[in-house]
Amino acid sequence: MKKEFIETELFDTETNLEHYNSICNKILDYIMSFNSDNPLIQQNYNLKREHTNRVVGYSEVIARSLKLEKEDEMIVQLIALLHDIGRFEQMSQYETFNDSESRDHAELGVEIIKEKKWISHLPDYIQDYIISAISNHNKLDMLKNENEKVSLFSKIIRDADKIDILDLTIKEYSKPAKNRNEKLTLGLADKPHISKSVVKSVVNGKPADKKQLKTVNDFKLMQISWVYDVNYKKSFSIINKMQFLKQLFDSLPKTDDVFEAYRKAKIHIENQLI
Ligand SMILES: [Fe+2]
Repeated sequence: MKKEFIETELFDTETNLEHYNSICNKILDYIMSFNSDNPLIQQNYNLKREHTNRVVGYSEVIARSLKLEKEDEMIVQLIALLHDIGRFEQMSQYETFNDSESRDHAELGVEIIKEKKWISHLPDYIQDYIISAISNHNKLDMLKNENEKVSLFSKIIRDADKIDILDLTIKEYSKPAKNRNEKLTLGLADKPHISKSVVKSVVNGKPADKKQLKTVNDFKLMQISWVYDVNYKKSFSIINKMQFLKQLFDSLPKTDDVFEAYRKAKIHIENQLI
């Protein structure tokens, strides 16, 4: 992971830019401090480093499409850099990315951010935006009644995160079973079964709940349902261009339920791009 990637011209005064870069460098040092002799654990640290790097990139693309103020762009980048900070400690302590078997990684991340005080010199309102967006980033439903800015930042990180997880897991599905990283699909069974409750959510146009998942096919179907929880036209356009939906569909058994879920999700994306 290169430190240079985060260097931007987001701040208009030199002091602020220096402060911003010093925050980013401290966070990057923390991220790079996780190493393991176990190659599987190391692979997962690397995976989250690379994921974080790409989510910073996608967040920036979405933020630019929304023509945000410079300060807001900086907040977007800090949120992206910090959104999965809890994943490293989660992998180190519990050797899993499955929150239900360990801890909610967003809440763990918020604890780490507070303990490390990386952002404690930023104005209180910025700290609130960052903490709230990170807390919201992995929740099935975003908390209601958030203020307009918290809602904006939460939606951007949720979109950017989904785009990269889609890309990452779809690439993983194309590998031979024995080479796959099971931690990415939460250790779910790779069986043909598809759970009715997951199908129901997708066909009804609702994002499926991780708690409903029993197999890798459920996971794939859940990922199709993510299109109902994407917020910005730019995000839909990336998802469309990268053909995530078709690739997920191609990797699933061709049952009536799967056809119906795919058809509806495809129409949903097309409608967002008009
Ligand atoms: Fe996350």
